[in-house]
Amino acid sequence: MSTERPFQAATSPVESPTPPSRRTFIATTTAVGGAAAVGGLAVGPPALGAEEAVAAEASPGSKVSLTVNGVRCTVTVDNRTSLLDLLREHLGLTGSKKGCNAGACGACTVLVDGRRVNSCLTLAVRLEDSEVTTVEGLADGDRLHPLQQAFIDQDAFQCGFCTPGQIVSGVGCIQEGRTNSPEEIREWMSGNLCRCGCYVKIERAVEQAAGRKG
Ligand code: FES
Ligand code: FES
Repeated sequence: MSTERPFQAATSPVESPTPPSRRTFIATTTAVGGAAAVGGLAVGPPALGAEEAVAAEASPGSKVSLTVNGVRCTVTVDNRTSLLDLLREHLGLTGSKKGCNAGACGACTVLVDGRRVNSCLTLAVRLEDSEVTTVEGLADGDRLHPLQQAFIDQDAFQCGFCTPGQIVSGVGCIQEGRTNSPEEIREWMSGNLCRCGCYVKIERAVEQAAGRKG
């Protein structure tokens, strides 16, 4: 049974678009570049430029109600907000990762009404009354989902960045019945990239959870 949980979009003040001086511009870009070098993948979004800030200010917002991991949520978001940003920045569900933010890596994979989607390419406002399942919604209390357990058993990760997307995609793969052979699993998991190269063990983990390996 789902429970109602209202959420309100975080609003951030937008600076007045006064053009920066050359000195300010150089100081700002140097600081952002330095932070990027130190933070690697964890670097946040760059500050809005003057034109983007005006566009963001003018952009309309919409209310969307959907169920996330069994919890009914109502959120007001900018119309351009992706499902991934809704999950991570509005609902605090940071399990789904932002790798490429362009539909190429699968790190952001979630289930929408049981189907695998790249949440970075899915507009949140189109998901009225949808059921979304993220990696946070797979375990049953303290009991891991069989595929989460299989990832541990098969040692199917190194850095772990791709792992939430791999696991959600694997759950979808199993539900779709695409696990009749190692080749079939590899084919239907091919949208999820792993820069650590754990593909063999990921395939074994999916195989184990599908009941073909103990
Ligand atoms: Fe969505 Fe890479 S972050 S596919
Ligand atoms: Fe590092 Fe897959 S475990 S990217």
